[in-house]
Amino acid sequence: MTFYSSIMKTIDEQGYHFEEWLQPAQIAKDVAQVAERISADYADKEPLFVVVLNGAFVFAADLLRALKDVRCEVTFIRVSSYWGMSTTGQLEFIVPLQQVVDNRDVVIIEDIVDTGLTIHQLKAHLRARGASTIRVAAMLFKPGKLEYNDAKPDYVGHELTDEFVIGYGLDFDGFLRNLPSVYKVKES
Ligand code: PRP
Repeated sequence: MTFYSSIMKTIDEQGYHFEEWLQPAQIAKDVAQVAERISADYADKEPLFVVVLNGAFVFAADLLRALKDVRCEVTFIRVSSYWGMSTTGQLEFIVPLQQVVDNRDVVIIEDIVDTGLTIHQLKAHLRARGASTIRVAAMLFKPGKLEYNDAKPDYVGHELTDEFVIGYGLDFDGFLRNLPSVYKVKES
């Protein structure tokens, strides 16, 4: 698309300098390989995709449209994860789960898995509500930062270390989610 030729290579925002890391063509390849694997794994099932807002909306839109012959449902949640008084942690649902997940094959769609706390808590929530299987598809994954083993994503678009990234759904202070590339912050 012509639009992509005008993508910025660098972005300066609030004193931070970002450089383009994943271009749309690379993102498309990453999405396609994840979609191919999910399509193969769920060909004979009827999965329920749970999209974790806000960040995952761009990846989810691309991924879901790239699936082949997967009859599925899609629902959306928005959560905030934190450790309260409980030893198991708590999920605050800003947009709660509206679908019954009992006996469903659930695939959580995330833009990024960092410490894994969100996925760890969300999986416990879905398990408690009777989901029969739960897998995770994440566009980005920071394996070096993972603190919860059960939060390792089953399908990953691209791995990275501990850099701050924006674009393709990921925000800086609420902005820049609409950038079609992923940008990494560069220390000056
Ligand atoms: C981000 C991301 C994941 C979570 C990952 O969400 O979308 O949900 O953080 O971090 P974790 O693995 O350490 O739990 P964020 O709270 O920034 O909300 P957003 O998606 O609305 O930007």
